Amino acid sequence: MTEEIDWASLPFGYVPTDYNVRCVYKDGKWGEIEISQSETINIHIAATALHYGQELFEGIKAFRGKDGKIRIFRLEENAKRIQSSAEGIMMAPVPEELFCKMCKMAVKLNERFVPPYGSGASLYIRPLEIGLSPRVGVAPASEYMFLVLVSPVGPYFKGGFRNTNICIMREYDRVAPKGTGRFKVGGNYAASLRAGHHAHELGYSAVLFLDPKEKKYLDECGPANFYAIKDGKYITPASESILPSVTNMSLQQLAKDMGIEVECRHITVDELSEVSEAAACGTAAVCSPIGEIDDLDTGKKYIIAKDGKPGPVTTALYNKLNAIRLGEEPDVHGWNTLVE
Ligand code: PLP
Ligand code: COI
Repeated sequence: MTEEIDWASLPFGYVPTDYNVRCVYKDGKWGEIEISQSETINIHIAATALHYGQELFEGIKAFRGKDGKIRIFRLEENAKRIQSSAEGIMMAPVPEELFCKMCKMAVKLNERFVPPYGSGASLYIRPLEIGLSPRVGVAPASEYMFLVLVSPVGPYFKGGFRNTNICIMREYDRVAPKGTGRFKVGGNYAASLRAGHHAHELGYSAVLFLDPKEKKYLDECGPANFYAIKDGKYITPASESILPSVTNMSLQQLAKDMGIEVECRHITVDELSEVSEAAACGTAAVCSPIGEIDDLDTGKKYIIAKDGKPGPVTTALYNKLNAIRLGEEPDVHGWNTLVE
């Protein structure tokens, strides 16, 4: 019962809801949308998703606005990215229209799980696609399932909008230089688990990965992009091994709207000594401010937040982004999709 959910203290986790929606690709076309109440799927023991990692996903949030309406943030951008990910690991792309329709359906059907305005929580939408066909030789499937589940969630990093510390460790790579880093595929996350676990054991919230080729430039920050504020500019890594984050793209636009210059470029580790703010950004992370970055290999500690508080630019970006998503401020860029 939703009456039992303490919305304000929800963690970022799975909460069972009423329905999920599914669609199967077979004989070269997508079939009928199925509404399901089951939390499980029945698939072939030799499915490519199980053996060769043909799995990809997305992450989107829906919010209950000040006016009581439900808004999904930048749905079309995720529809585009899921197609790029599908191309990346040779899966059938989900058409944009089908993607948007199923996400909206999943939200509408589970409307009672959309957290109330003011709770700080949101409804996380998790679309995923898997290869169904049995294969023992390494080859793509010819049948796929696309599924959308939802879960009410709270902040990704414990404590919400407050500084956390991260670390640099050169002993792990998340992806290969020309590998699958720019696609949102399950394999990338499996490859990041050991590094993430090690960092958590040492008390850090995430690993700041370096570029996998030269280990010279900053790359991804755990399951999020990274940005910093240097000389008043918003700087963020340009790299072919990072996921093009919809949140980062949005924050860049908001920064420009505030008159802040944006640079997408290589950022060296040394530059961290010259930044006034740093943050991890993503759908789950929003923009999570970083207090300190410890380079575990050189022993150097980069103290970003000298006063221990989130910086002014990150605070302003966070507030602006939330105000747009909650319908408190005009959606001038047309980022919200209303669920009627
Ligand atoms: N990078 C990685 C590895 C991620 O998993 C995510 C989360 O989706 C992001 C970046 C942020 O992307 P977005 O802002 O589109 O959620
Ligand atoms: C997201 O931010 O949507 C993510 O996918 C990050 C993580 C929870 C996998």
